[in-house]
Amino acid sequence: MGKKVTVVGAGFYGSTTAQRLAEYDVFDTVVLTDIIEGKPEGLALDLNQSRPIEGFETKVIGQTTGRNGEGYEVIEGSDVVVITAGLPRKPGMSRMDLLGVNAKIVRQVAENVAKYAPNAVVIVVSNPLDEMTALAQIATGFPKNRVLGQAGMLDTARFSHFVAEALAVPVASVKTLTLGSHGDTMVPVPSRCTVHGKPLSELLPADKIEELVVRTRNGGAEVVALLKTGSAYFAPSAAAARMARAVAEDSGAVMPVCAWVDGQYGISGVYLGVEAKLGATGVTEVVATDLTDAELASLKEAAEAVRAKQADVASM
Ligand code: APR
Repeated sequence: MGKKVTVVGAGFYGSTTAQRLAEYDVFDTVVLTDIIEGKPEGLALDLNQSRPIEGFETKVIGQTTGRNGEGYEVIEGSDVVVITAGLPRKPGMSRMDLLGVNAKIVRQVAENVAKYAPNAVVIVVSNPLDEMTALAQIATGFPKNRVLGQAGMLDTARFSHFVAEALAVPVASVKTLTLGSHGDTMVPVPSRCTVHGKPLSELLPADKIEELVVRTRNGGAEVVALLKTGSAYFAPSAAAARMARAVAEDSGAVMPVCAWVDGQYGISGVYLGVEAKLGATGVTEVVATDLTDAELASLKEAAEAVRAKQADVASM
């Protein structure tokens, strides 16, 4: 049977994610929902009209949903649901400033997803990411492997872009890795960063690498400060769409994602940015990589920081 993916929230992040998923032309159906009357229907109509030009057969269905779950029948049978609903940052805000307001939204969405698409894999992108992923798992009651978050692919992409730019090399020659949280305790892994297979530390001085790491950690805020009215969506949607596709195709691709960690790296019981293998059931394996002592210590610190916050969301 053809695959079906739903994107909840038809704002900038959600609509660009739906566009990327449709243009892959591997899904039967892409569903786009929002609580703003007519917006998802309008965007779906517009996207469908791009089919003859872009040459894809995937059908996009837009559906306005109500506060009490009206309209959610449209998501029935979804293999993957991407949750983008929630407020984005404004200049000067941290992702954590969104916690209260987005927790209400994500809980409401997650409860409806559990009711109407009980077998879906859920990919969360709403911020603060690590906390909203933990909350979506609690609110759906889904097995932990079936709920994951998008952050690491984006942070890694930002880092790779900055390295490619600094060295004036093709972006395809650059490999980077970041683990930890999508925020202040993001953990870059210099030991896994290479250009044409050469360690980054041989190509750039330590202070320059640190400068790029800091810029990566603040990568979202830099875009927010320029846009002034919202947050990034082109790179974020590229990451989320790739994850959804990996799940739908049961590809087994290993990607940096926010996944439930229970034992790996000596860390237990927390949603954290790690590398994981993705398949039809979501995270099929958390892949622990060799870390230096300093990198491991930073990852454990990140785990404790997000664990404290994730405990708070249970009651939100
Ligand atoms: N159900 C469905 N959609 C909702 C709900 C809800 N309960 N509540 C809000 N929305 C919708 C809004 O109506 C809006 O169209 O979510 C959409 C959010 O879109 P934008 O404001 O454009 O924000 P966007 O840039 O898409 O970011 C969405 O992703 O990166 C994160 O921090 C960002 O949390 C934010 C999320």
